[in-house]
Amino acid sequence: MRTNVYLPKLAKVISVKEEVGGVRSIKTFRTQFLDGGFTHKCGQCAMLSIFGKGESMISISSSPLVKDYLQFSILKMGRVTSAIHDLEVGSIIGIRGPYGNAFPIESWKGKNILFAGGGIGLAPIWSVLQTTLLRKKDYGDLTLIYGARTSPDIVFKEELADLKSKMKVHLSIDVAEPEWKEFVGFVAQNILDKKPSPENTIAITCGPPIMIKTCIKALSEIGFKDDQIYTTVENKMKCGIGKCGRCNIGRHYVCKDGPVYSWAELRQLPQEY
Ligand SMILES: Cc1cc2nc3c(=O)[nH]c(=O)nc-3n(C[C@H](O)[C@H](O)[C@H](O)COP(=O)(O)OP(=O)(O)OC[C@H]3O[C@@H](n4cnc5c(N)ncnc54)[C@H](O)[C@@H]3O)c2cc1C
Ligand code: FES
Repeated sequence: MRTNVYLPKLAKVISVKEEVGGVRSIKTFRTQFLDGGFTHKCGQCAMLSIFGKGESMISISSSPLVKDYLQFSILKMGRVTSAIHDLEVGSIIGIRGPYGNAFPIESWKGKNILFAGGGIGLAPIWSVLQTTLLRKKDYGDLTLIYGARTSPDIVFKEELADLKSKMKVHLSIDVAEPEWKEFVGFVAQNILDKKPSPENTIAITCGPPIMIKTCIKALSEIGFKDDQIYTTVENKMKCGIGKCGRCNIGRHYVCKDGPVYSWAELRQLPQEY
């Protein structure tokens, strides 16, 4: 019997956490499938359905090593993400996926990993960060350089505080605040300030497109080669399975061939992202 590939699996929201309040609100949702589910890889996404409202593609921010739930951290943007923000514990949603390729973390064993994220861009990074942290003996030094516009805009605040005892964490905000003791400036500037060594290191940078561009430039400036830099492309998506053509960059279907690209791969493609 053929199954309908667009049919989502039902899942229950088991926790809702407000990360950031205000107009650009961000919430983290944990979900459990009602009946069966799927396993994912770091960097993959899922299409979340809010019945009667629509679907949105969202990065799975939990590690594949965590089997109890799938986690999503979501910025309130428009129709669907606003409906997601209205969900409560016990709400039922649809989830289809997992979609896309993944960060090739198996081939990074023995290497240092530098994570450079901005704003909600910590969500796709978080899955890799948690996985490599759980398997720390397989990897070298893990370093996070993360920034947000203001201190209240920082996501995963408690988790980041806890992370500081486990790996190097360098935070930044764009403009000075009286109580802020860490770096003031953009994430790319913090990279240039901290100058992490490119030696045997992979860098992952995720966030708003302008942040990704400036971070890649900064990483190149301090000696990272194009094939040492990875990012994700978040072109708008509809089907998620390479049928509608909504997400294309040239002949690439980002929903299937991406969203994870090395800078060496991405710079060969048309600048449609
Ligand atoms: C691979 C992938 C992974 C993603 N992961 C996450 C994630 O982990 N967390 C998260 O909060 N968001 C993520 N997004 C973005 C998310 O899919 C969109 O914000 C969401 O679909 C918007 O839907 P909406 O109905 O709320 O907004 P709409 O009502 O459709 O649009 C509201 C506004 O948002 C803009 N917009 C919609 N989609 C995008 C997009 N993809 N890029 C830029 N602008 C957009 C529209 O142009 C419009 O201005 C991801 C997108 C992709 C493609
Ligand atoms: S979202 Fe339809 S082809 Fe990629």
